[in-house]
Amino acid sequence: MIHKIYNAICRRIRTFTKRTPRPQNNIKINCKWLLKRSLRFNASTNTNSDMQKMQYTLLRENHIIEKALSIKDTKKGFGVAKITNLCKRLKIYDDRYGLIDPDFLTYPLVTIKKYISHTKDTSDVNIEEIEAIYNELSVKYLTSPVQIFGGIEICSSDNIINKAKGDFKDLIYSRHSVRYFTADLPSDSIISKALALASRTPSACNRQGWKTHVYKGSICHKLLKWQGGANGFEQDVHCAILVTADLRAFLEYEVFQAYVDGGLYAMNLINALHFQGLGTIPLSCGFNGKKLDELKHFNVPENEVPILIIGTGYYPNEFKVAISTRKPVERTNNFEK
Ligand SMILES: Cc1cc2nc3c(=O)[nH]c(=O)nc-3n(C[C@H](O)[C@H](O)[C@H](O)COP(=O)(O)O)c2cc1C
Repeated sequence: MIHKIYNAICRRIRTFTKRTPRPQNNIKINCKWLLKRSLRFNASTNTNSDMQKMQYTLLRENHIIEKALSIKDTKKGFGVAKITNLCKRLKIYDDRYGLIDPDFLTYPLVTIKKYISHTKDTSDVNIEEIEAIYNELSVKYLTSPVQIFGGIEICSSDNIINKAKGDFKDLIYSRHSVRYFTADLPSDSIISKALALASRTPSACNRQGWKTHVYKGSICHKLLKWQGGANGFEQDVHCAILVTADLRAFLEYEVFQAYVDGGLYAMNLINALHFQGLGTIPLSCGFNGKKLDELKHFNVPENEVPILIIGTGYYPNEFKVAISTRKPVERTNNFEK
């Protein structure tokens, strides 16, 4: 009898062990979950038939203008093709969603207004098509006095550094993405001070799976060239910190946690550098796997996933930054009942 019970238990254990997915399977299942969600929600798919996807992609295209205006030597007559395309997409938005969410259009239209006046002041390139669409849409959507700012703002280094040493609100409001710095390289010691502050970042179970790689001079320029999003200003940024997260820190059911912990750390490091009197520019590492594999040429081991490159350096006495208007909180928050 006991023998029979023992055999039955063994059988149950064997079946159970067989059915239980191994960690590798769980990792696949969790990655598939994101795959399924991404196939539905990624902004590259069915973009114009989803108002939110359209808004996000329009904000991205809008930023191309702000960014070009905020680099040291803004190219005269830049971006006509891209901005014409943006205008055409704004028209599609107007047709499809203009009645549902008209306020959205204010920010891109104000930016295009700045672009038009900059281009007319500095070049004689033909932007008639852009102007025509801008005029048509602004009559409809820029009717009340505009409360929204767009384009660029001029900052002074003294003012920004003072504010970064002020209260938290001043620190947050005085941080901007800066796309050119003086030739002086930040010392290891000042960077280490910022890293020490950033190490106060919370992380899941205090695992602190973040890593940083600091590049200065020509290797920094090479990294920024590889990154591509610093196109037009990579030679004006002489120091960069690549934040990565170590995949070895995370278990089978938390395959995305590397990006959460790494992202929190990267933001804290940006604020810490700002507090130390250094300007920063976050630079995306949102690339496909093949491109990310090339990071081995920058001494990044395979167990680390890149989170963000942070270009950093000393502020010039006076410099331009993109205003990068924020959405009102009501657009991004729900007080759930
Ligand atoms: C994850 C991430 C990636 C970014 N990538 C780039 C980039 O490749 N090139 C660039 O010029 N700016 C980049 N930025 C800077 C954003 O354009 C900038 O943070 C945004 O417009 C808000 O402006 P602010 O930082 O001045 O407040 C990036 C920012 C983040 C957070």
